[in-house]
Amino acid sequence: MQDVERFRKRAIFQHWWIVACSLLLGLTGLFLFLSWVSPAAWWGWSRLVHRIAAVGFVGIPVIYFLLNPKSTWEWVKEAFTWNTDDLGWLQAAPSYYFGGPEEDMPPQDRSNTGQKLWMLVAIVTGVVFVITGFIMWFFKGSVAPGVLQAMVLIHDIAFIAGGTMLLVHIALAAFHPRMSEALRSMTTGKATVDYVKSHHGKWYERVTAEK
Ligand code: HEM
Repeated sequence: MQDVERFRKRAIFQHWWIVACSLLLGLTGLFLFLSWVSPAAWWGWSRLVHRIAAVGFVGIPVIYFLLNPKSTWEWVKEAFTWNTDDLGWLQAAPSYYFGGPEEDMPPQDRSNTGQKLWMLVAIVTGVVFVITGFIMWFFKGSVAPGVLQAMVLIHDIAFIAGGTMLLVHIALAAFHPRMSEALRSMTTGKATVDYVKSHHGKWYERVTAEK
């Protein structure tokens, strides 16, 4: 069966790098958040690991952007570009994910509406984490206590919102039977023509027309 390239190797590397950093950040962040279990906060290690993982979380995307500015902007633009097909997709999605007919779904671009929603959440919460984290790390002594408290609160809200959506992302991307080739495409970069035609029809038409 013929394959179509969905993700380049560098995008796959970046994805799994961010997964590793996010898991470390989430775990150590949880220990810091639940300070009443502070002996479990790795006897002070949580804060250090959290900061090292934060540097990795920011560093690789920045390097990726500097090396691939055009494709990074296109990717960000994709997350923020919505049209009536997305509305149709959202309306049909509940039935689709519970086994409803595939034909009810409007044709999708490189990412479907649900995937775009996750991209949007990942970008927005990522930016919020970085800004609030930066202020907490470097301006602790120089901003008013109220500002610092607000940063902690916003950081924690981003964690709850992003973490909840991450669980949905993992469930759909890795385990939902309808997304049978998603995990393969995020490891090998490839998906079959049939899968791409049925899941990303609009994108398939465009990339084959460009060739
Ligand atoms: C164990 C955890 C995770 C698993 C199993 C997983 C799995 C996947 C898979 C299979 C895809 C491809 C979906 C497709 O067919 O298009 C994907 C895409 C994506 N994932 Fe994850 N993911 C995980 C964690 C994360 C985390 C922590 C983030 C960000 C904080 C993230 C952000 C993304 C984004 C932004 C995409 C879209 C990539 C693109 O379109 O270029 N994922 N993920």
